[in-house]
Amino acid sequence: MVEAINKINRSDMKYQTTKPIVEYKNVQKSYGDVEVLKGLNLSIYPGEKVALIGPSGSGKTTIIRMLMTLEQPTAGEIIFDGKNLWHMERKGKLVPANEKHLRELRGDIGMVFQHFNLFPHMTILQNCMTAPIQVQKEDKESARKRSIEMLEKVGLGDKLDSYPNQLSGGQKQRVAMARALVMRPKIMLFDEVTSALDPELVGEVLEVIRDIAEEGDMAMVLVTHEMDFALDVADRVIFLDNGVIAEQGSPKEVLEESNNERLQQFLHRFRN
Ligand SMILES: Nc1ncnc2c1ncn2[C@@H]1O[C@H](COP(=O)(O)OP(=O)(O)OP(=O)(O)O)[C@@H](O)[C@H]1O
Ligand SMILES: [Mg+2]
Repeated sequence: MVEAINKINRSDMKYQTTKPIVEYKNVQKSYGDVEVLKGLNLSIYPGEKVALIGPSGSGKTTIIRMLMTLEQPTAGEIIFDGKNLWHMERKGKLVPANEKHLRELRGDIGMVFQHFNLFPHMTILQNCMTAPIQVQKEDKESARKRSIEMLEKVGLGDKLDSYPNQLSGGQKQRVAMARALVMRPKIMLFDEVTSALDPELVGEVLEVIRDIAEEGDMAMVLVTHEMDFALDVADRVIFLDNGVIAEQGSPKEVLEESNNERLQQFLHRFRN
């Protein structure tokens, strides 16, 4: 246990001088009788890149969906950017958050899903412009200009007027990233964004994530099965097993040096 804590401290050092952007405090999540998370304590720091790995059903998606306000914790607190996500203060008391509170906080959080979730009846430029205009009340010209910039950044500057069904899976996923980035989130959540793609399209999507990561200032949580990518991009790797963090540390510590048996079993599947 002490050893585990030391590991955590070592790999967090780069960031610990700042306040966390996200804190999970003893967060529990159950679906009926199924206890998915058993008291999660996790701080993520501004700019930090965290890779979340673990077996199917270990709760990776649940962790990020709770932050995206798509799923409510059964117990515990999530603090985002210094504010309680699922509760708000009213007359000195903590009460359940209302939709307005959730919407405000969610505005600083970006998420990219496995299955793109683009609007099929809109061009990719319109896909990107909609939220800044409707949610952030940005004027149309400026939203348009910034959306074009983001689409250029993900290598789709020549596809602005295409519709999603005219694009490859990798291109659609890059649109989804541009659409999230245009909201200027403080943290981006990626849930297995390459696992629905044909193998030959994975590289182009990882390349874009790598570019975004290298810009540095935005925190990122990556649920991924791409271990080489995690080793390369993440500051910290977290191994989730049976609803708890079973191991965490620098990518090297977790992916190459750990003796944790469950982790070894898990990683074994990716080596051949
Ligand atoms: N809406 C739901 N209702 C009931 N059970 C759920 C629901 N969502 C998730 N679960 C259960 O919670 C557990 C954790 O699910 P979660 O999707 O977070 O796992 P995961 O680590 O993302 O797995 P995978 O690698 O397969 O995506 C699983 O046992 C799953 O069946
Ligand atoms: Mg999942």
